[in-house]
Amino acid sequence: MKQSTLHLPDHLAVIMDGNGRWAEQRGQRRSIGHLAGARAMREVVAHCARAGIPQLTLYAFSSDNWRRPPAEVSALLTLFTSHFRSQGVALARAGIKLTVIGRRSRLPMPLRSAIRDAEARTAQGRVMQLRVAIDYSSREAIRRAEGSGTSPGDTSDGSPMLPPVDLLMRTGGERRLSDFLLWECAYAELLFLDVLWPDITPAILDDAFADFARRDRRFGNVSQRVSA
Ligand code: IPE
Ligand code: IPE
Ligand code: MG
Repeated sequence: MKQSTLHLPDHLAVIMDGNGRWAEQRGQRRSIGHLAGARAMREVVAHCARAGIPQLTLYAFSSDNWRRPPAEVSALLTLFTSHFRSQGVALARAGIKLTVIGRRSRLPMPLRSAIRDAEARTAQGRVMQLRVAIDYSSREAIRRAEGSGTSPGDTSDGSPMLPPVDLLMRTGGERRLSDFLLWECAYAELLFLDVLWPDITPAILDDAFADFARRDRRFGNVSQRVSA
């Protein structure tokens, strides 16, 4: 089927899971898995932009991931820093607008400034809106929205809530949300894949889009595909 004929998700969210196991299966350190995961992420971003996905939100580091061994946390933060430093130009050229969501105050200064620079450089992007969640907790975002009086679902600037997710994909075989976009996924189609994140390919993504296009989304109504 030709990609352009498919009904694509307006907002795709992805839990990029399985880097550690990918490395362990190869007898390597988990940080090697994260490196391979970053490469996969760049390919997925490029493919989604090419395919015409308007909004892509990626879960890169949860607020609970601070519990991991310090060496792994530090390897991840260093990887994020070099990723944002090197990606700003390429994303801007591709018309991709980057924003990082989550709590910034606990991130190291070099990472914060790499994020700020990449966000500024890509601010004019109109092809795709890319959000990367770092030190992100959905429960915390919902609490903040309540505290600030912002109605959850209000997507105006400064609101911690995002537009509704159409398709939520998780690689790595686990069937859970791990505190990601709980509010926004109210009517999301869920797709859990056994493939480990570094092994994701454009073909797997295309299959996911085709799967999404076949789903009958009813939002509480009756199906528009059959008559009463
Ligand atoms: C996802 O891969 C990346 C992060 C959570 C930062 P994992 O590191 O969770 O990989 P597994 O689940 O242990 O294989
Ligand atoms: C969720 O994966 C967070 C990211 C992918 C960034 P985890 O590997 O941390 O989730 P759990 O611990 O299996 O629920
Ligand atoms: Mg995991």
